[in-house]
Amino acid sequence: MIMSERGDGAAERVLAALRRRGAHLVGSGDPVGPVPVLWWDNGDFPGSSRITASFRENERRLLLDTGTRSIDLSKITAVWRSRPSGPRADAVGDAGQRAHAELQAEVMLDGVWSLLDARWLPGRRADELRAHNKVFHLAKAIELGFDVPDTTYTNDPAELVPAYERSGGRLVAKQIAAERFQVDGAPHRAYTTVVTRRHLTSRHRLRHEPVILQPYVDKAVELRVIVVGERVFAAEIDASDSPAAREDWRHYDNDRVRYGPHELPAGVARRCARLVAETGLTYAALDLIVTPGGEYVFLELNSNGAWGFVELWAGLPVSDAIAGWLMDGGTHDV
Ligand SMILES: Nc1ncnc2c1ncn2[C@@H]1O[C@H](COP(=O)(O)OP(=O)(O)O)[C@@H](O)[C@H]1O
Ligand SMILES: [Mg+2]
Repeated sequence: MIMSERGDGAAERVLAALRRRGAHLVGSGDPVGPVPVLWWDNGDFPGSSRITASFRENERRLLLDTGTRSIDLSKITAVWRSRPSGPRADAVGDAGQRAHAELQAEVMLDGVWSLLDARWLPGRRADELRAHNKVFHLAKAIELGFDVPDTTYTNDPAELVPAYERSGGRLVAKQIAAERFQVDGAPHRAYTTVVTRRHLTSRHRLRHEPVILQPYVDKAVELRVIVVGERVFAAEIDASDSPAAREDWRHYDNDRVRYGPHELPAGVARRCARLVAETGLTYAALDLIVTPGGEYVFLELNSNGAWGFVELWAGLPVSDAIAGWLMDGGTHDV
């Protein structure tokens, strides 16, 4: 089962790889083979799909009716949570009542998914949420012996100047959760910011929102490492020619930024795979910096982080690895 909203480009790529491996998409014109794949989005529930979990006389049924077909959910062997939307009850007019219906649907889905005897990529939702938390996974990375910058998570203004001094005046501030947000109704995204003396003067504002403080790590290149089960793919991002992307490559200044495959030292690759497994996941995207001295510094783990550019721009076969992982556990007719 691919659990994702329609139009998800990553899901299209994995579906193509599944088809190359003999799978067919349920409800499409694909010739029917031994490996049925269902593409479904949580946003279809409760609006356009019906789900029934019933427990009667020691018999358990988990049924999904998409409107065009009925599927026995207990037969699902693998689930890939790519980019599912939340449950949607668009037909309920009142906003408060709609939110209530969607909450009921979400709790029901969580329960139903918990009963599936399936392999999950990147993991079950609860594991994914915990692993994604930077405070949690940084501690795990340190336990596994990764090189990690001195890091402070805080909303205490008194922490800022000492951290700045310890860093020799080269400190960055980052968000604890890299979500997009709105300021005065306009969309906003906070990038990694080099802390200046002006920030030090207005440090009282830190009280209102915790941040991450780290010394600035010099870069030879940045890495995005994709772990799929035991497999590890590393792409390097060389942003040194881009004034915008040098401090944070997500400025996507693609005319000046170079992407390519990167050969990880075996020990670092093993540690990346171990970190993903130890945080309870089967997939993750890790951000690392390779310093001019050749050290591999761990920044963070994204439990459902993007791999599209690792495949498209660095040429690494991630969609095929995901398809292979999903099919490894065997299949059933649904
Ligand atoms: N300590 C640091 N030194 C230098 N650059 C950094 C540092 N931390 C983050 N960056 C830059 O900012 C980007 C985003 O930071 P990251 O830790 O991956 O958090 P997130 O992606 O959640 O915002 C990194 O990929 C890197 O380009
Ligand atoms: Mg990142």
